[in-house]
Amino acid sequence: MATSAQRAGAIHPAWFVFWAAFLSASIYFLLDSVGDVMSPELQDGSTTWNRIVWYVGHAVIASPILLIAPLQFMPGLRQSRPEVHRWLGRVFLGGCIVAGLLGIFLGSTLYLPGSRIPLTLLASTWVFFAAIAWQAARRRDFVNHRRFAIRAFALGGAFVWVRIINKVQGDVFSWMPTEDLQETTKEWLTLFLPIFVTELWLNWGPTAKKLFARKA
Ligand code: HEM
Repeated sequence: MATSAQRAGAIHPAWFVFWAAFLSASIYFLLDSVGDVMSPELQDGSTTWNRIVWYVGHAVIASPILLIAPLQFMPGLRQSRPEVHRWLGRVFLGGCIVAGLLGIFLGSTLYLPGSRIPLTLLASTWVFFAAIAWQAARRRDFVNHRRFAIRAFALGGAFVWVRIINKVQGDVFSWMPTEDLQETTKEWLTLFLPIFVTELWLNWGPTAKKLFARKA
């Protein structure tokens, strides 16, 4: 029987490249956000209570999720230290649910009207996926647990994806007449792309491959 070290050794190199890039981007963008979180500037109409509870609460609860994610998806650790996977899993999925609920408020009240619908949908779907992943683990349905934990990660990773799109939006969307339209398009893409890529990998890709395979 293969040991966990052997199983970990079988991981595709692209896996390490992805997580190294994801972790570096997460740390970079988290450090970049510290100024925003500490800033006394509030949106018009916001109160201190509103800021501390929703905004800082969301940021503090959500941040560990990005750092825990690589550990949770590492097959070696999951198999060799199941109790660590279980505890980090509670922090990860619990964080997605609480930060997502706070994100629903933040998104639905954001000062940019065009961002409200995509952000509210994104945060609600994030909570929904994390709750299903948790319930699947409780019921020991590990196939669905894995699939929904991946989906929850893909949407939580929006913190990184949106900032990457933000870096290129001035060039990529330069043909759009206004910055507001660019912002709105960015938010819709941040909702659509993680779902599209995840489902392509988990469901649509394998189904298409099977259906388009040459008949024997
Ligand atoms: C693990 C994932 C996430 C982390 C680490 C995270 C972290 C943060 C941080 C640090 C801030 C404050 C800095 C800033 O405004 O840029 C913030 C704000 C915000 N987050 Fe998240 N977040 C995550 C996921 C999400 C998701 C999935 C949504 C979905 C809607 C969301 C919605 C928001 C909103 C609406 C704001 C306020 C933006 C503003 O006022 O300009 N976040 N988040």
